Amino acid sequence: MNLQEMQQEIIRLKREKNICILVHAYQSHDIWEVADFIGDSFGLTQQAAKSGADTIIMCGVLFMAETVKMLMPEKRVLLANGDAGCPMAEQMDSAMIAQMRKKMPDHKVVAYINTTAELKTVCDVCVTSSSAVKIIRAMPEQKILFIPDCNLGAWVKEQVPEKDITLLNGGCPTHARITAAEAKAAKAAHPEALLLVHPECRAEVTALADYAGSTTEIMKYAKESDAKEFIIGTETSIVQHLQLACPEKRFYALSKDLICKNMKLTTLGDVYDCVRGIGGREIEMDAETIAAARRPIDAMLAYGG
Ligand code: 13P
Ligand code: SF4
Repeated sequence: MNLQEMQQEIIRLKREKNICILVHAYQSHDIWEVADFIGDSFGLTQQAAKSGADTIIMCGVLFMAETVKMLMPEKRVLLANGDAGCPMAEQMDSAMIAQMRKKMPDHKVVAYINTTAELKTVCDVCVTSSSAVKIIRAMPEQKILFIPDCNLGAWVKEQVPEKDITLLNGGCPTHARITAAEAKAAKAAHPEALLLVHPECRAEVTALADYAGSTTEIMKYAKESDAKEFIIGTETSIVQHLQLACPEKRFYALSKDLICKNMKLTTLGDVYDCVRGIGGREIEMDAETIAAARRPIDAMLAYGG
């Protein structure tokens, strides 16, 4: 079976079995081509909340599949590759944040959606990279404890100076490893190019950028811009997707190290096994965890909607 035949078979089986395939933007192009929906973390969450399918396959990482399960506990939810986790999501746990809450009782805990369901149970509101500024600005509370990504948090803090935002020392190992020196070198190598970065990058990298936004926002910006060249400061898959979408423009990776090996784990073969009923990791969560972890997700959707 070649790649196209595998894709056709996936599409046939997903229709036959009423399966919805949700695909994060960092997945490879062959997986994009069998998707029902492609998006950033916020878009995937919104999509998950309204799917009419019996089974949902998440091509992304574990916290994304957990979010789908929380929003639709009655559905069968599969993470296409069961080993695909997000290291940032594992950096903090509920015991640590419950302790912080005791020390800071007047703070609302805002969690980046890249957290485990277990951690979400002690948080007030979730945000994604595309919704964080809007939600924190709209929250009536003044004092915020933002977890776990201090880089995304610092970016939000800069745009919402009227709030008192406390950060902890977490972050995305893929984006945080990029240095300002690398960003300056990329700009020097491509002087005509605009630098577009994800706010999970360090503050000194984001400060050099022409635009910062979520994966979907970066792609939208590049597609709509009159500029012809772009340095992409997020996972390198976005360089390929943009180059395919806009062949008349040029896209360069900010660094060859901008590779999330967790996002890269999922293959088209994994998706094929899932639709055949012989692969993936089924997400199981008890009702108590779902009820507690869903509150901050619902709060996010209420703000976002
Ligand atoms: P977005 O999907 O919000 O752009 O976040 C990127 C990311 O790192 C997801 O794990
Ligand atoms: Fe997690 Fe970073 Fe990979 Fe996203 S890119 S899944 S935040 S490690």
